[in-house]
Amino acid sequence: MTTRRCFLEIAALALGAERILAAADAPVPFTLPPLPYAYDALEPYIDTQTMQIHHDKHHQAYVNNLNKALAGDPVLSKLSIDELMVKLDTLPAPIRTAVRNQGGGHYNHSLFWQTLAPASQSGKPSGELAVALTKTFGSQEKFEDGLKTAAVGVFGSGWAWLTTDKAGKLAIESTPNQDTPLSAGRYPVVGIDVWEHAYYLKYQNRRPEYVAAILHVINWDFVTSRFKKLTA
Ligand SMILES: [Fe+2]
Repeated sequence: MTTRRCFLEIAALALGAERILAAADAPVPFTLPPLPYAYDALEPYIDTQTMQIHHDKHHQAYVNNLNKALAGDPVLSKLSIDELMVKLDTLPAPIRTAVRNQGGGHYNHSLFWQTLAPASQSGKPSGELAVALTKTFGSQEKFEDGLKTAAVGVFGSGWAWLTTDKAGKLAIESTPNQDTPLSAGRYPVVGIDVWEHAYYLKYQNRRPEYVAAILHVINWDFVTSRFKKLTA
């Protein structure tokens, strides 16, 4: 078995042969996925300039730096972003940190854009996700309180997450920097980016206000559908 084939088979097994981020998982060179809405679509909760800089500059930088890190490795260059994040701990040491930070940034942001929507289209969790949220946290409101607490409590830069396993067991957790739950064997269902670049222009040091605001623009139809696919 070639090394490349071995890598691919391990990754496919770990992912259950299912790609988590179809829109962003094409191998090197990775490209910046377009926002699925206009820059001003999340106003007044998330301002236009923040969306422009966050997507066009910050996310683009993660993509560029990930491509640079993988450019000299023909084996790893064949892997999708999902596969890279799943098998992070097995990557060669010299490249692991770059994939962790830059690949994590690409993976997390690619998911983040998809989980947001204009407030008028935000909706509510439904179906199996609504049932699981109530069963796990007591109510939608208690779940949102827990996610807010996790997001506000991240020290420095990082993310707060609702995650699931294949059996649909939900959890609220947080990760530092651009670490992603996928690398720890959990599937991110929805995440809140609490890096200052996500909110500082509008909210400055008021992270709790930003966290409360972003819950108005969660795309619950997408998130509900994602949960269903992850646990199918
Ligand atoms: Fe970000």
